Amino acid sequence: MKKTVFIIVTVLISFCGQAQEYKNTFIPQPESVVMQSGGFKLGNTTQVFISKSMYADLKPIVASKMSSDNGLQLDVKSGRVSSKSNYISFEIVKDKKIQSEGYILEVKPSQITIKATDYAGLFNGFQTLRQAIPMGSKGETAIPSMIITDNPRFHWRGVLADVSRHFQTKEFLLKQIDVISSYKINTFHLHLTDDQGWRIEIKKYPNLTKKGAWRAGRTGIAWWSREAATAEEPKTVGGFYTQEDLKEIIAYAKVRNVEIIPEIDVPAHSKALIAAYPYLFCYDKVPEGVNFEVAVGGKAPDNALCAGKETTYAFLEDVIKEVAALFPSKYFHIGGDECNKSNWKKCPHCQKVMKDNNLKDEEELQSYFIQRMHKIVTAQKKVMIGWDEVLSGNGVKGATIMAWRRGIHTPEIKAPREGYPTIMTSYLHSYISRVQGPMFMEPEGPLSVLPLSVVYNHEPVPSELTAAEAKRVIGNQVSLWGEFTPTESHFEYMLYPRTLASAEVSWSNPKVKNWERFQDALEFDHFARLERDKVNFSKSMFTVYPAFAIDQLNNEAIVFLKTETVGYTIYYTLNGEDPTMAEGTKYMGDFKTTPKTLLKAGLFNEKGELLSTITEIRLK
Ligand code: ACM
Ligand code: ZN
Repeated sequence: MKKTVFIIVTVLISFCGQAQEYKNTFIPQPESVVMQSGGFKLGNTTQVFISKSMYADLKPIVASKMSSDNGLQLDVKSGRVSSKSNYISFEIVKDKKIQSEGYILEVKPSQITIKATDYAGLFNGFQTLRQAIPMGSKGETAIPSMIITDNPRFHWRGVLADVSRHFQTKEFLLKQIDVISSYKINTFHLHLTDDQGWRIEIKKYPNLTKKGAWRAGRTGIAWWSREAATAEEPKTVGGFYTQEDLKEIIAYAKVRNVEIIPEIDVPAHSKALIAAYPYLFCYDKVPEGVNFEVAVGGKAPDNALCAGKETTYAFLEDVIKEVAALFPSKYFHIGGDECNKSNWKKCPHCQKVMKDNNLKDEEELQSYFIQRMHKIVTAQKKVMIGWDEVLSGNGVKGATIMAWRRGIHTPEIKAPREGYPTIMTSYLHSYISRVQGPMFMEPEGPLSVLPLSVVYNHEPVPSELTAAEAKRVIGNQVSLWGEFTPTESHFEYMLYPRTLASAEVSWSNPKVKNWERFQDALEFDHFARLERDKVNFSKSMFTVYPAFAIDQLNNEAIVFLKTETVGYTIYYTLNGEDPTMAEGTKYMGDFKTTPKTLLKAGLFNEKGELLSTITEIRLK
């Protein structure tokens, strides 16, 4: 496993007589980075000038990041440059080379300029400049001269946070917006409602949060083994965002070039909604065995709204109007996924609507429901987004699709082929709720693994699409479903660094992507930046994956060890001791040993430093 060091542009810069090594560790990797000779001396005397129209929003961000990153208290002025040298300028220009959100960053010995055609571009250029400043520098710092030209690949570069399964505080969301925007993620999709909690204040229907935001406590019991709540139990677990909270989140995100997308997931995933307003369910009289409490985890049967009652549509119209007025985004997500239609089959209201509208089955009833949502959403002058199940039956022309399923459904091909703008949210490549290392070594999660390299190497545009169809792929998004992430530190552990990998997938031209470079950029630079910003993250990319087979014929264990990284070395022991470079055996390929032996393996860098948690497994 030889490391191809040429991939990293390494230059030596000389500053105050000291030579420093400088590596290109940008994430996401820009379109073009051209290193030049010399460097800019950044210090407390450096002045900053920001185009007048952008000053109010950008100044606080530039000033506070320069202070928190580098301990600098910079003089940040509005308007044109009024200095000959030693300044950073942010300028709005007309330049065909710069697309919306793109920028040109020039670092010269006398000045730094960031040019863009819009606010988003200046913001993104500043994030690149932050990464160009050596991590950990305090006070006076040399930045090597360079010219960076950069434009986004996709307009939609998203992260989904499921705040229903476990409520996350406003402050925590603000922190995440700050981190993801540093990596040019521009869309934060809030999954605000689901079976286990309704998280948004709706003034017209206060019971949605009074009852729907709270559930019975089941802490310490595995998610899938939880018994449903009873009516009598106290409901102590939950929380919600007031409309004022959401306004604050939206405003905080806006100046960081992040749009907040609200999702109200209907007709299914609606147990919390039904708990708050049971008349939205199919039956007027609650049948024996049907539970109307907010789900606590585990399965949530009877979670679909009635698609036959007019009251359902009137209620949802009220909710959608209120939510649409709150969120400035042109998009509104109505969910539409995983609807169990068994109650619809028995419900007189649903059956009557099917008969009256010549709907041949419940799939067409789902289409009918979704098309009515579409009408309500478009009346609010919004574009409706739905999970790819909304394509079933007769589809819903005019909507935007989140293609999450793979395999036989092929929405990643079907949706763009049928003319739908499509956002790729593949569960196989982008569901970061899945664990990210050997399952037995990771915190509890779904029983499937999504390593960092798989997120990184995902190509969101299927090769089957024509060029015209491919243009309908408007973006890529990772999704963090919240069943297994009750704590903030666990939530962040799942988000990072896989969100950084997705940021590069979503932003960078595939021609400049390279897994080895990305992996090195994390190890050399970004893990330290995340640590500095008190962000919890996973180093599971370094964990050694073990596999073995027992050959009973010869009484032997055959062992295979794997790492998703490039350029490091696996050392292992079979004597129960922790491996070191000196004491362990270097892994050179599969080997045989005695069954029941305790294997310990770790990943080491050239300096002999252990990078990973030690993998420990008995070969039986
Ligand atoms: C989904 O994972 N049900 C969108
Ligand atoms: Zn019904």
